[in-house]
Amino acid sequence: MSSATGPKLSTGIDGLDAILDGGFSEGRVILVLGEPGSGKTILCSQFLNYGASTKNEKSAFIGMNESKSRFMSEMKGLGMDFEKLERGGVFSYVDATEVRRIPEEAKVGRIPVGGRELGLVNLMDTIQEAIEKNAPKRIVVDSISDLVFRFPKIEERRPVVLDLVETLQTSNATCLMTSELVSTGESRTLQPEEYLAEGVILMRTLRKGSRAIQALKMRGSKVDTSPRPYVIKENGIEVYSTEEVY
Ligand SMILES: Nc1ncnc2c1ncn2[C@@H]1O[C@H](COP(=O)(O)OP(=O)(O)O)[C@@H](O)[C@H]1O
Ligand SMILES: [Mg+2]
Repeated sequence: MSSATGPKLSTGIDGLDAILDGGFSEGRVILVLGEPGSGKTILCSQFLNYGASTKNEKSAFIGMNESKSRFMSEMKGLGMDFEKLERGGVFSYVDATEVRRIPEEAKVGRIPVGGRELGLVNLMDTIQEAIEKNAPKRIVVDSISDLVFRFPKIEERRPVVLDLVETLQTSNATCLMTSELVSTGESRTLQPEEYLAEGVILMRTLRKGSRAIQALKMRGSKVDTSPRPYVIKENGIEVYSTEEVY
């Protein structure tokens, strides 16, 4: 492993570890960016499952999209038993679905500033609570999209994401946050969370349904930045780190 970088934490996916020169750098906040259905939630779950089940590392999943029971059953279908890990005290699911609920006014662009901030304050509190209660080594926030898209202007969105990244950094845990890819193609616009995160993993679907994963940036780490093929199978994501995307 590269000696220039700090200690690495295995992602739980061999091919992804290979791309990342061993895994994610400890204590960093990484963005997992991709289209709906690209496997963001599965990737993050494998990261938590690996740490909790093989290293006895405490893991926390802060779920903004789905209920705990739905998460548990979906992941069980992919061979990850988070109920068992929860009973063993190495996993906690934090239900944050309430936080992202968008008030009606937001949809017509008339949401008062106080209302907008409420969701954010709640999320930060929820994350802080999870950190203090469990001192997790691995944290996932899935997903931040509904929250950040509440702020239509980029200049408003930036401090929101910065706040979130800074809150996660105080945990000293290695953190993944997921976000929906807004635009695709060569000239796509960068999303604020991309330059505020310390690392970015991009997951996308190419022609004919083939999938590609790419480390766009990984601060302080020497990584393979080429897109590499991946598949989602009954046991989760598999990355082919030595193959080319065609
Ligand atoms: N057992 C499975 N075998 C193959 N693909 C699966 C399996 N379970 C889920 N998937 C695929 O995983 C994708 C959903 O992954 P998910 O992590 O929820 O995506 P995201 O969070 O990016 O929306 C879907 O495209 C689905 O087809
Ligand atoms: Mg998801």
